[in-house]
Amino acid sequence: MFRLDNKNALITGSGSGIGAAIAEVFAMAGAKVYVSDINPEAGMAIREQLVRSGHSAEFLQLDVADPESCRTASEKVLDSDGKLDILVNNAGIGAVGNMEQTQTEDLDRMFNVNVKGMYHVIRFFFESMKDRKKGSIINMASIGGIVGVRDRFAYCISKFAVVGLTKSMALDYAESGIRVNCICPGRVETPWVKKRLSEYPDPEEAYRQMASTQAMKRMGRPVEIAHAALYLACDESSFMTGETMVIDGGWNAGK
Ligand SMILES: NC(=O)c1ccc[n+]([C@@H]2O[C@H](COP(=O)([O-])OP(=O)(O)OC[C@H]3O[C@@H](n4cnc5c(N)ncnc54)[C@H](O)[C@@H]3O)[C@@H](O)[C@H]2O)c1
Repeated sequence: MFRLDNKNALITGSGSGIGAAIAEVFAMAGAKVYVSDINPEAGMAIREQLVRSGHSAEFLQLDVADPESCRTASEKVLDSDGKLDILVNNAGIGAVGNMEQTQTEDLDRMFNVNVKGMYHVIRFFFESMKDRKKGSIINMASIGGIVGVRDRFAYCISKFAVVGLTKSMALDYAESGIRVNCICPGRVETPWVKKRLSEYPDPEEAYRQMASTQAMKRMGRPVEIAHAALYLACDESSFMTGETMVIDGGWNAGK
């Protein structure tokens, strides 16, 4: 159950946090994993960790905002393996600020990475998935793609767009054998969130404040998101497409 033997998977932004946890869980489930990240040191460290544990893993430097970089990465995977079974579009950036504090350039940056970045990576693997009539695409959205979050204007717009991208593609290709789903995590304790917490005068109080939006009053752990990604990646979820899987410690339950 929930195995990925003989499958390969590319996970963008897997040098850290949720992406790194997905890479590890997929590798443990038997997949050959392509760790990919804009940051080569971070990505190579995760790749080495996986290889040391006896898993099959490669590293690809990839900037999702740069179409040429996405093309090169897809050529490397397809030349080497002839296919990609699972694509996890996880790379993303955040920003704090309301509408008045957000400049056009901030919106452009957010969209280039969080939305157009997904489109670029998908485009370069899509033909091969279509030819094989097989593929699972998993997009990392956010609870901020389901409900508004204060002071996250640009981020929320981008994550609502990820949900739209997911549903629209799922409908268009529902009969093609390619499934497209997204995951909407609440707050998860990753390096990104830990860095933000460390900037507050009282990080423990800041943790309590941030976690208070979630009914469980704690943040999620990256591995708790990775297990959901495993389900969406494997054949046991074969009847599921266009879904937004919310994993938020109960944040959305009372809405
Ligand atoms: N942590 C949370 O609370 C949370 C909640 C909801 C959704 N998410 C989403 O989960 C995803 C991962 O978040 P995380 O918290 O693990 O972040 P993180 O910062 O720990 O990891 C993100 C990784 O993406 C890489 N990256 C950034 N820009 C890139 C680019 N242009 N091309 C390729 N790689 C790039 C970074 O180098 C980093 O290794 C993001 O899409 C984020 O929006 C996170």
